[in-house]
Amino acid sequence: MIEVVAKGKIVWISGPAVRANGMSDAKMYETVSVGEANLIGEIIRLTGDVAFIQVYESTSGLKPGEPVLGTGDPLSVLLGPGIMGQIYDGIQRPLKEISKKCGSYIGRGIKTTPLDLKKKYNFTPTVKVGDEIEAGSVLGTVPETELLQHSIMVPPDHSGGKITNIVSEGKYDLETEIATIEKDGKKNSLKMYHKWPVRKPRPYSKRYDPTIPLITGQRVIDTFFPIAKGGTGSIPGGFGTGKTVTLHQIAKWADSQVVVYIGCGERGNEMTEVLLEFPELKDPHSGRPLMERTVLVANTSNMPVAAREASIYTGVTIAEYYRDMGKDVVLVADSTSRWAEALREMSGRLEEMPAEEGYPSYLASRLAQFYERAGRVLAKGNPERNGSVTLVGAVSPSGGDFTEPVTTHTIRFIKTFWALDARLAYSRHYPSINWMNSYSGYLSDVEKWWKSNVSEDWLSTRNEAYTILQREDTLKEIARLLGPEALPDEEKLILEVARMIKIGILQQNSFDKVDTYCSPKKQFKLLKLFVEFYKGGQDAIKQGASLADIRAMSVISNLLKARMDITDNEVEKLDQLAQKMTEQFKNITGVKVTS
Ligand SMILES: Nc1ncnc2c1ncn2[C@@H]1O[C@H](COP(=O)(O)OP(=O)(O)OP(=O)(O)O)[C@@H](O)[C@H]1O
Ligand SMILES: [Mg+2]
Repeated sequence: MIEVVAKGKIVWISGPAVRANGMSDAKMYETVSVGEANLIGEIIRLTGDVAFIQVYESTSGLKPGEPVLGTGDPLSVLLGPGIMGQIYDGIQRPLKEISKKCGSYIGRGIKTTPLDLKKKYNFTPTVKVGDEIEAGSVLGTVPETELLQHSIMVPPDHSGGKITNIVSEGKYDLETEIATIEKDGKKNSLKMYHKWPVRKPRPYSKRYDPTIPLITGQRVIDTFFPIAKGGTGSIPGGFGTGKTVTLHQIAKWADSQVVVYIGCGERGNEMTEVLLEFPELKDPHSGRPLMERTVLVANTSNMPVAAREASIYTGVTIAEYYRDMGKDVVLVADSTSRWAEALREMSGRLEEMPAEEGYPSYLASRLAQFYERAGRVLAKGNPERNGSVTLVGAVSPSGGDFTEPVTTHTIRFIKTFWALDARLAYSRHYPSINWMNSYSGYLSDVEKWWKSNVSEDWLSTRNEAYTILQREDTLKEIARLLGPEALPDEEKLILEVARMIKIGILQQNSFDKVDTYCSPKKQFKLLKLFVEFYKGGQDAIKQGASLADIRAMSVISNLLKARMDITDNEVEKLDQLAQKMTEQFKNITGVKVTS
């Protein structure tokens, strides 16, 4: 069957938006080749024979009358070995290859392949001739990098069938037909890669409840506002409040096997920082470059907005592909506001009716479509594989105003909200996550994990600590109005312990060798110490000790520095601190009782 390919002509151009006539054979979201220069574009609206096209490359010099040709395919990514370590633009063009071809700027109409089709990988089959294969099943494995074993899978929408041929173990390039599958007398061959349309979520067999926490080693996240594997989170914050540092910490430390980092930079140099910094980062567990299990999708402001719009779909499709191998994948997007602005710009060019602040009315549904692709799932096919995609997006509302549309719509679709606070950042309280405005919808989901892996008392201890912080928040107001001296000692104790929790637990220095990561066990023991300190203080006051006595306890300075002084390998030192604390409480109450 010969596919009919649309052949139209450009009638109108406005920046990255192009309108073409004669496109009645085209399909919505079909990719098209635009103009004499063969620029890559995608149809985003089709009315009769008129197609509205967003063009992923600079349209300068393009003229009405130039041809537009359909390709028959939706915007897709190539999925196979070779993705890890790559730096792609929003439509999966490898930036290194592009810069080799045309220097520092991206030339137009440049044709590159997202994967090196000539590179050979050592393939080890895990199926044999005669095996019945389903959609999504693993055919074999390839060591993609030192840190990553890549499963070669039958595409998840394949009809499956019986294996009639499979290559033996050896080195093959991506164009080699490694397996042949027969179904109903029809044979078809598979290579080590396949194509997948970016706007279509990859199917899976079953979705699980998000009950396993994603451990990030960041105390305010894991202990106070946890995110689950397969969950969604958002980091809204004004200029310079610590969004990027927090995302880097998550990317670097989270217990995931794969990281997808989407950079939608505002300023060119912002992305340069990521492009220079990320390749330098080390995987903390193995000491090898983090890039061996990371893929960067980078957009700068000098790349066309349409590519920025596509980048989150490209990123999430790659994330789902590694999820299907049975891996835990973390995708971080910095920042989704820049992505939303791209959406706004395209919508403006198409002269659509604007909704709030000029954003299109479909901003909310697009955000929903993105965050809905998070999840922990049972992948299709054999053998059984559980994998997850956790999605975390930074939002940069101008002026830190959380009532603007991108933040308010995002809140509807995410379950963990880490609100960055400019006041905390100015006072150098990092991470500047405001504990009163932030929340996690996963607390009760992940409780069981913490109970069986760390302590039965995890949630109750966390809640006790959080109550101290909440009470401080109200007492602070009273203290401000009446002066702190107006409060009784029991309430002053709350202010004191809240201060200690802020310094000793909530603050965490990303640049300190020990403090940058805190194991779940250390997190819990630290938390317990502070809660025990509060209880010890309450008892001491009841028995006649004064707040001054409590403040004079030397163990306080040990507690405040424990996060940096005590490494994850020596958490028993925290038990010794607990003993020292008990003794000092005995001393102050003892003194009072005898005098
Ligand atoms: N956890 C942290 N530990 C130590 N310093 C931090 C931490 N978080 C942020 N900072 C400090 O704050 C600075 C600004 O952080 P960052 O670049 O992440 O902010 P941002 O919100 O991404 O800013 P922009 O709005 O420009 O994108 C960092 O350079 C660093 O000095
Ligand atoms: Mg930033």
